[in-house]
Amino acid sequence: MPRILPLGVLVSGRGSNLEAIIRAIEEGRLPARINLVLSNKKEARALKIAAQHGIPAEFVDPKAYPDRESYDLALAARLKEAGVELVVLAGFMRILSPAFLEQFPLKVINIHPALLPAFPGVEAQRQAVEYGVKISGCTVHFVDAGVDTGPIIAQVPVTVEDNDTPETLAQRILEQEHRLLPEVIRWIAEGRVMVKGRRVYVRRD
Ligand code: GRF
Repeated sequence: MPRILPLGVLVSGRGSNLEAIIRAIEEGRLPARINLVLSNKKEARALKIAAQHGIPAEFVDPKAYPDRESYDLALAARLKEAGVELVVLAGFMRILSPAFLEQFPLKVINIHPALLPAFPGVEAQRQAVEYGVKISGCTVHFVDAGVDTGPIIAQVPVTVEDNDTPETLAQRILEQEHRLLPEVIRWIAEGRVMVKGRRVYVRRD
C-alpha cells in the first residue's frame, strides 16, 4: 500500500482541476489527501468546491501583506502547519517567489494548458490558436522561479482543429488536464518520479 501523500492546492478561480483531484481521491485512484486549499481570490469557485467536500479552504488576501515575498511566506507557513508535502498549483494565477520555493524544493507542481516550452504565461490556448500550431496540449511540471519553466514531468498532446477557437481548444485540453494532473500526483505519491537537472524520469511499474 502506498502512503497517503498530504497535498496543498493553490487556486485562483474555477477549480475544475481541484475537482478532478478530489474525484480521483474519492474514487480511490489517488493515494493522497488534500490537507488545505488556499486561494488568492475571495470569490474563487474552487473555495466552494473544497468546502462542499469538507476540505479546509481559506482565502489569503494579498492586500494584507506589504510585498510578494511576505505573502508567499504566509502561504508557505499555512501549508507547513497543515502538514503539506506536495503543493499543487491548479489554476493559481500568481508567480511564486524563490522564498516560497525554498520551503518546498521540488515539491511544487503546476498544470499548464500548452505543450511547454511553447506558449508559457497567460492565455496559452489563445496563443496556440493565434500562432497556428496544429498540436497543443497540456504539461505538468515542477515549479521553479521562472514562468512555466521548471522541469517537465508529463505532457499530453491535443490536436488543434481548423475551426477551433481559444475556447473550444481550451475545453478539449481541459479534459486531458483532468486526467493528467491526478495521474502525475499519483506517480509522485508512489515515489516513482526522479529529477536530474532538467530531466524528469518516471519509473513505470
Ligand atoms: C487550467 O487551464 C490550468 O491549466 C491553468 O489554469 C486553468 C485552471 O482551471 N493553469 P481550473 O481553475 O482548474 O478550472
